[in-house]
Amino acid sequence: MTTVLVPRERRSGETRVAATPETVKRLIARGARVWIEAEAGRAAGFSDAAFEEAGAEVFASSDSLERWRQADAVLAVQAPLLCSEGGDGGLEALPAGSLVLGLLDPYRNQALIDQLELGRVSSLALELLPRISRAQAMDVLSSQANIAGYKAVLLAAAALDRFFPMLMTAAGTVQPAKVVVLGAGVAGLQAVATARRLGAVVRVSDVRPAAREQVESLGARFIEPPQLEEAPGEAGGYAREAGAVFQEAQRQILAKQLEDADVVICTAQVPGRPAPLLITEAMLAGMRPGSVVVDLAVAQGGNCAASRAEADAWVGGVRVIGAGNLAATVPQHASALYARNLAALLEVVLKEGAIHIDPEDPLLDPCLLTHGGACRRPDLRPARQEATA
Ligand code: NAI
Repeated sequence: MTTVLVPRERRSGETRVAATPETVKRLIARGARVWIEAEAGRAAGFSDAAFEEAGAEVFASSDSLERWRQADAVLAVQAPLLCSEGGDGGLEALPAGSLVLGLLDPYRNQALIDQLELGRVSSLALELLPRISRAQAMDVLSSQANIAGYKAVLLAAAALDRFFPMLMTAAGTVQPAKVVVLGAGVAGLQAVATARRLGAVVRVSDVRPAAREQVESLGARFIEPPQLEEAPGEAGGYAREAGAVFQEAQRQILAKQLEDADVVICTAQVPGRPAPLLITEAMLAGMRPGSVVVDLAVAQGGNCAASRAEADAWVGGVRVIGAGNLAATVPQHASALYARNLAALLEVVLKEGAIHIDPEDPLLDPCLLTHGGACRRPDLRPARQEATA
């Protein structure tokens, strides 16, 4: 019987949990045994008793190492901590041939890849899941970005010195807030929809031509990108990194848009690369005092030059909110969706009560980060060499 271990998340600010009572039942029905660390779901509103009722075995943190030694699969939200990061040794204790699933931060977490190779532990990095229809039910980037886009607008609305909707009152008419959204991926489109629901007028910048129609279908206006030959375009549904000339031309266009904006929601990203720098300090200086920038790309360096991770910065009366992990501020729904995504992925490899990984499966191939003691993503090797040089 496969033993699935769900640890309590230990990274700072992480409130989500990788399984819920609903997904525990689902995994048990597929022949797995589920062990969950005490209090793993507390911050997300799932009690130990609810997990036990669903059929999981709750274990004390003091018993953690012994449990990791016997696990076949580990369901995590973020990469479990290594001993060198203050972890309790669980990751190092995993048996060879076991499997870790989670948002493993593969572009930046070289030490984790080294340890997974050393321990001959297989791993599925959810950031690398292919965007094929079979993977839609497992797409945690989408389920979590959707929450982040929604919450970013609520943060901005709470911080803004004005209303979002147009209001006609006996004291006169109030004009709607003007919102600019940078990046029209999952988070950006949810930000557009949420800002529109609150009554704002919304404009959106993206470099993928396909984004225009999606933006307009939500009642927002698409900001024309620079008409240059070196436009980045897209690959596999994602934007390519824009060159320096394109980015400079884009900033000039955006500077004008920002002059009369009340709110800017930054979501522009390129997988595995630093986020494009779209708002400079000079552009912030051209914004209205009292306006608000929420930067969801801050963990990748940010779209705004002044952004600081999980902190506010003030530039000439403009408030810049760095919000790298907003999904964790809506932990119950974020965990419910994340856990369903993860259960769907585990079910792909859970056959007749045991784990069988087919590295040739087009769904697993791109996201199977380590297997049989080796990192399978050659594109991550140069980064590893740089990191260890
Ligand atoms: P992401 O998080 O990688 O990036 C966010 C957005 O930033 C993207 O729309 C990207 O084009 C944009 N961006 C990059 N550089 C920019 C720049 N210099 N200026 C302005 N915008 C810039 O993207 P996400 O949310 O992962 O979505 C990417 C695409 O994948 C979208 O079209 C989305 O609808 C699609 N998608 C497809 C899925 C599927 O087929 N199963 C599932 C989820 C998303």
